[in-house]
Amino acid sequence: MRIQVRAGRLDQVRGGIQVFGAFEGERKPERLMPPSAGAHRQLQQLLAGAGFRGAANETAFLPLGKSWVLVVGFGKAKDFSLEKVRQFAGTAARVVRARGYTALSLPVLRDRVLGDAATTAQAVVEGALLGLYRYDRLKQVPKHEKSKHIEAITLVVERSGDVAGAKRAVEKAEIIAEAVGLARDLINGPANLVTPTMLANEARALAKRYRLKCTVIPFAQLKRLGFGGLVGVAQGSNHPAQFIVLEYRPTRAKATFALCGKGITFDTGGISLKPSSKMELMKYDMAGAAAVLGTVKAAAELKLPYTIIGIIAATENMPSGTAQRPGDVVKTLSGKTVEVLNTDAEGRLVLADCLHYAKRFKPDCVVDLATLTGACVVALGSEAVGLMTKNERLASLINQAGKATYERVWRLPLWDEYGPALKSDIADLRNVTNTGEAGTITAAKFLEEFAEGLNWAHLDIASTAWTEKDRPYIPKGAVGIGIRLLIELMENWK
Ligand code: BES
Ligand code: MN
Ligand code: ZN
Repeated sequence: MRIQVRAGRLDQVRGGIQVFGAFEGERKPERLMPPSAGAHRQLQQLLAGAGFRGAANETAFLPLGKSWVLVVGFGKAKDFSLEKVRQFAGTAARVVRARGYTALSLPVLRDRVLGDAATTAQAVVEGALLGLYRYDRLKQVPKHEKSKHIEAITLVVERSGDVAGAKRAVEKAEIIAEAVGLARDLINGPANLVTPTMLANEARALAKRYRLKCTVIPFAQLKRLGFGGLVGVAQGSNHPAQFIVLEYRPTRAKATFALCGKGITFDTGGISLKPSSKMELMKYDMAGAAAVLGTVKAAAELKLPYTIIGIIAATENMPSGTAQRPGDVVKTLSGKTVEVLNTDAEGRLVLADCLHYAKRFKPDCVVDLATLTGACVVALGSEAVGLMTKNERLASLINQAGKATYERVWRLPLWDEYGPALKSDIADLRNVTNTGEAGTITAAKFLEEFAEGLNWAHLDIASTAWTEKDRPYIPKGAVGIGIRLLIELMENWK
């Protein structure tokens, strides 16, 4: 797709369907960015006739002069934000595509609350590209659908001085949207295709393309090297587990980040088998791993001045004659032993080995991303990522990044009083409590046992990695959450 930037007025730019934004309850022409006074009056009449109010993401496709224009609601001016801009662009791009057009032009509004033109342009392009995402590689798309394809987007900035900054923002947004697209593809992909081996190959391909270092430790070696948490989970599957380390090392790096991703390519629960209803969704149990791959890809392309170590434990969690049993005791990479009382609490077992492994890189900061607990779905629903850390500064930086990207986080406590429930009679730890309380927090307390000495934060993305609701720039299915958040976090580091 071609994305270009022009300065001027939206109506003077030839770039396919012109998309106007309208605030709810406002009739000011400059806000609507109308073609001309006469056309503006005409547009107002048409909108009024159509009962258009300007509510967020409300759309009206209208004939104006010789062509058609699209008007998309911004919602109330007092609620305006970069997020509204992303949604506006996502809605617009999808409507234009659904109508069978191949090009659109979008305004980069100047508004006090939005910041500079570059920031707004980035939001516009991210919204449009993320909104246009679809996972259709496995189905035969009818011809008339296939031809529905946006080929060009023109961004219209108001001042020529804003063009250069907007162009750089476009490039950045393209890089980020492509990384999120990769993560979404991996998450939407079914578990018979997205296997641990496939994830390892994906990491190798990224390494080749961006000159990264990639190390993959195969199952047989993991056993020998003592990755007992991962091996215990993996031993029931016919697909060999893969421990993936992807390193981006720019010269003169200012800090080192380690990003750990849960890569359960399918979670049946193991011998502690899950109910069959909705079990198919457990293909998204590798969304943490997908976020790590996407973040390393984006960071390398953006040339961020930080060393980034992506660490992924990839395996299935299957029941079989070789699967681990409830009650088994495994010895993790750290040396700590764990009584596996529920084989469905497998994410924390594989992450225990990831976190311990991260220590060798002496990272300044470690963030793990995991679809870890159903309890997080109950507690926070699909609007917030669960954040747990004891580091106030890290909590505040992640919180800020969440606000900026709208990948919002909500912090839960990691108080030590939650810890003793993880004591085992026969091992150092048990992998589940028997209290039924605070499932998201106790899972994090388990992880904390393996993060000693690290400046560490845990993100539980169980409720946010997948959406059943179609959103303006997040189509139903894989969200690809975490990448925009982590890139923003790293860009704001010190
Ligand atoms: N992958 C699941 C958590 C999950 C549930 C993610 C729903 C996304 C949607 C995880 O491995 C799991 O099974 N957790 C158990 C832990 C329990 C056994 C302590 C859970 O949440 O039920
Ligand atoms: Mn599980
Ligand atoms: Zn799981």
